[in-house]
Amino acid sequence: MPREGLARAGRALASLVLAGLVGGAADKPAPLDVEHWRKAFARPDHAPTPADNPATPEKVALGAGLFEDTRLSGSDNVACSSCHQADLAFSDGVDRHVGHDGQPLDRRTPPLWNLAWGLSFFWDGRASSLEAQAMVPIENEREMAGNLQTALRELSADPQMRKAFAEAFPDDPAITQANLAKALAAFQRTLVSPETRFDRWVKGDDKALEPDELAGFSLFVGKAGCVACHQGWRFTDEAFHDIGLPSDDKGRGPVLGVSAADHAFKTPSLRERVWSAPYMHDGSIASFDDVVNHYAERVVKRPTLSADLPQQIELSATERAQLVAFLNTVSSDDPPRPASLPARTMAWGTNADAVPASSVSQKARRFTPGAVILKVGDALRILNDDTRVHNIRLDGPGKSFNSDAQNPGDTVTVGFDRPGHYDVICGIHPEMRLSVDVAQAR
Ligand code: HEC
Ligand code: HEC
Repeated sequence: MPREGLARAGRALASLVLAGLVGGAADKPAPLDVEHWRKAFARPDHAPTPADNPATPEKVALGAGLFEDTRLSGSDNVACSSCHQADLAFSDGVDRHVGHDGQPLDRRTPPLWNLAWGLSFFWDGRASSLEAQAMVPIENEREMAGNLQTALRELSADPQMRKAFAEAFPDDPAITQANLAKALAAFQRTLVSPETRFDRWVKGDDKALEPDELAGFSLFVGKAGCVACHQGWRFTDEAFHDIGLPSDDKGRGPVLGVSAADHAFKTPSLRERVWSAPYMHDGSIASFDDVVNHYAERVVKRPTLSADLPQQIELSATERAQLVAFLNTVSSDDPPRPASLPARTMAWGTNADAVPASSVSQKARRFTPGAVILKVGDALRILNDDTRVHNIRLDGPGKSFNSDAQNPGDTVTVGFDRPGHYDVICGIHPEMRLSVDVAQAR
């Protein structure tokens, strides 16, 4: 080897040793290059919007309303939000949603956070824009089983809808398929997940992550190899990979007509995934622990396996727990609620439509006041004026009620027709307690 080459090889070896890749340092991981990874995971300032569908508050509000509008479905009882539920990261908590025909759908309902940056949509990427995607579930026999023309006619018959479309599309106010798709897409682009502890660490706050969480991040970008596909602040390369799940769904392959892409699915984002179990395109993995166990020891070997998947990862029990601890840091502490979703009002029980005799707030995870006295025939209004999602569970004489997710801005009004003592808690934050005593009306 010429001298020049030798010197170069020497330098290369020296830097390998420095990086901890050679010799006795082999089982000691390389130190985390903090500045590099902070740059690689920095969040962008704002979400992109396509030139042909700029977002306006009116359009977003229309889209948010349509997202919850059951008139888009054939049976008038399914909305986008039936499967894409805000408090479950816009997924639905089941492995596969039961479709119109009573059979489970082919794939799991994916969460919808941060799709403004998406390059293709569906697990197999068969839709090229959110606008194109939106029409598919409406007409899908097994999802909403709707007929677009019927849905458009129904919406056109509603004066409020005509007004909302006119405000959203001042130049072309018609209630058309194109405008429906644009409004739904514009709303979905507002679903940007909020900053979490990990983002505070990325911005320079060294204390934002616990040592175990940071160790998990080092594994994620280091020997566990996760960052080969879960890249950038959304944790996705937007590419398709076969990660060796036993499912026989061919995924991307048939979309392209390329069998080398069989079993490949779009790398999902990992943001807000604490709220969206079970995981994977078929919902076959119930927990983060089992996701990590999958990568460590359960990968099905087949020719289509992604080249970006590490061949063999040795992860101790501690390291697996650290990876899971890290995964938790890219989700919010409570299911986040986008400001673009309209508030809901729920009413329950006889007299629930009476003018409320009392009102209770839920700010800062506390019912205020914590006790109320009512009389039979009164209604009680509970307002979620907090920043997190709550839930109302009420138990008392002959009465029990569960509000489901109660989002910021939502109100629940309960009417009381029997005297007695009632306990109200939030099922998500059971330390929140409210006691209601209802006296016999005189
Ligand atoms: C019956 C349940 C159901 C309903 C209703 C439903 N979806 Fe979905 N959605 C799914 C499933 C399942 C998938 C994944 C299908 C696939 O990948 O093949 C999906 C995929 C998506 C995706 C792609 C996400 C990604 O990561 O690529 C978007 C966006 C979406 N739905 C929006 C909507 C909108 C908008 C509506 C209402 C017009 C809607 N969905 C109605 C179940 C549903
Ligand atoms: C070769 C690319 C690749 C690598 C490497 C990789 N993943 Fe994934 N990951 C994917 C793909 C693709 C899916 C979806 C697979 C499917 O549903 O068929 C996925 C799914 C997941 C999910 C479930 C997300 C959801 O919403 O369903 C989690 C969590 C996850 N990966 C974490 C990790 C961790 C932790 C590592 C490192 C140990 C890792 N991934 C390594 C590509 C990869």
